[in-house]
Amino acid sequence: MSSDPAHLHQAMLDRLARTNALALEGGGADAISKQHARGKLTARERVEALLDPGTFRELDRFVTHDCTDFGMDDKKVLGDGVVTGYGRIEGRLVYLFAQDFTVFGGSLSAAYARKICKVMDLAMNNGAPIIGLNDSGGARIQEGVASLGGYADIFLRNTLASGVVPQLSAIMGPCAGGAVYSPAITDFIAMVQKTSFMFVTGPDVIKAVTHEDVSKEHLGGASAHTEVSGVAHFSVPDELACLALLRELLSYMPDNNMSEAPRRATTDPVDRTCRQLDTLVPANPNKPYDVKDVITAVADEGRFLEVQPDYAANIVVGFVRLGGRSVGVVANQPAHLAGVLDVASSLKGARFVRFCDAFNIPLWVIEDVPGFLPGVNQEHGGIIKHGAKLLYAFCEATVPKVTLITRKAYGGAYCVMNSKHIRADLNFAWPTAEIAVMGPDGAVNIIFRRELDEASDPVATKAELVEDYRDKFANPYRAAQLGFIDEILVPSSTRARLVEAFDSLQGKRAQNPPRKHGNIPL
Ligand code: HXC
Repeated sequence: MSSDPAHLHQAMLDRLARTNALALEGGGADAISKQHARGKLTARERVEALLDPGTFRELDRFVTHDCTDFGMDDKKVLGDGVVTGYGRIEGRLVYLFAQDFTVFGGSLSAAYARKICKVMDLAMNNGAPIIGLNDSGGARIQEGVASLGGYADIFLRNTLASGVVPQLSAIMGPCAGGAVYSPAITDFIAMVQKTSFMFVTGPDVIKAVTHEDVSKEHLGGASAHTEVSGVAHFSVPDELACLALLRELLSYMPDNNMSEAPRRATTDPVDRTCRQLDTLVPANPNKPYDVKDVITAVADEGRFLEVQPDYAANIVVGFVRLGGRSVGVVANQPAHLAGVLDVASSLKGARFVRFCDAFNIPLWVIEDVPGFLPGVNQEHGGIIKHGAKLLYAFCEATVPKVTLITRKAYGGAYCVMNSKHIRADLNFAWPTAEIAVMGPDGAVNIIFRRELDEASDPVATKAELVEDYRDKFANPYRAAQLGFIDEILVPSSTRARLVEAFDSLQGKRAQNPPRKHGNIPL
């Protein structure tokens, strides 16, 4: 070997290049072809597609596991099955990890867990979001409890980061066993259709224990979790769509709980009149309309990123911008189950409200709710404690909160849906609003039971009494007299008034009493 310093230097650089090239091979050409054949990208391809071009800085590329059992000392792959580091999304710093299924099935070793913990710690220390791309066979079986410890180290960090930095998860392959609990603690989960699944116990164990026959897809595929369980928030057709969604989702969020979501310039006039809203609510109060028409009419450029669109459709949640400001929307949906509140919609709404409150995203609540859903299933399913979660979430939220009552605001649901009494800042109603203890029909049945029993023509008498009640109570004026409604709006002015409202609340300061934490009825 030459002692020429230039040659020595070159040899060192060559070694680095060779080692880098080896690491970039991941699990090797065969495993990569298999991954592609399944319609899946590799971990590094995913990272490239997610981040702004050329911004990824990989950490721990040369880490290997330290397991010596089961012949593992001969099987070391640089990086050990997870790609970690940081980069930029629309110029904003994010930390991320991408599990590499081509290496030991993406299974998690102690060394692999340390890599993930390192980027999570960096994200927390620097106040930047964490994104996890999951594609893993779970705990690395050869490592036993060492890998379980690694998972627990991650779960702890997920929990401590909750409400401090946004955490986004994409499920892009298997995610099974206790491994599901890391994404479960994060703020949002997106699942790729057909290629991803999540379950605590898989079809084989279920078959052995309960004798149920179920496929992986039916048990824990994207549809199962976005339509039935509500575990995941987005079902996306393919991986590129999933990564694009994560980028968009992040654009509505701040970097951390001490900062504000970025404002995005809009060419949509803030005082744009929304004529269609003047006639949107049908004259017949029992006729539905689509509350998303209100949201898209008012939002900048009509853009609405709906969260959990396929779960508990009687409540609609998601993000819009109003005059460039990111706003979280929570809306009863009269087009589905008349917009009633039930167990699933209460859970969906509560979690979203808490996310927005944790991350300084103002709330716009659109209310058209006949009440809570009656039924033994609902009562025995715990509607009392689940409905209480939504109430609690609105009560404790200190971000700017604006409510718009478009039609029905009845009973307990009136109180729950961000009423004045639970610290909403501005409460608006359209002239079509009906704000009362209950709907005219039910009210007349109770108040005028004797008159109806004694009436010669009960149908006509009831119609008259219902009309009378509607005139007196099923409108926004009683609530406006009491100051529970700040202003009755001409519907077409809603966009202009909401933009102004949120502008006026920009400096809001509100705090809850000091305490370790509240005890939300879980
Ligand atoms: C070590 C694993 C592994 C694991 C997969 N591999 N899972 N190696 N530990 N957990 C390896 C396989 O041996 C194989 O290696 C390669 O990854 C690809 O796996 P295949 O089985 O060929 O792929 P596929 O047919 O797509 O099946 C994927 C799979 C299956 C469904 C994930 O591999 C599987 O069921 N794995 C075991 C899952 C599991 O039981 N994990 C533990 C769960 S308990 P070669 O060398 O052949 O290519 C758990 C607890 C977490 O995770 C607790 C946290 C608290």
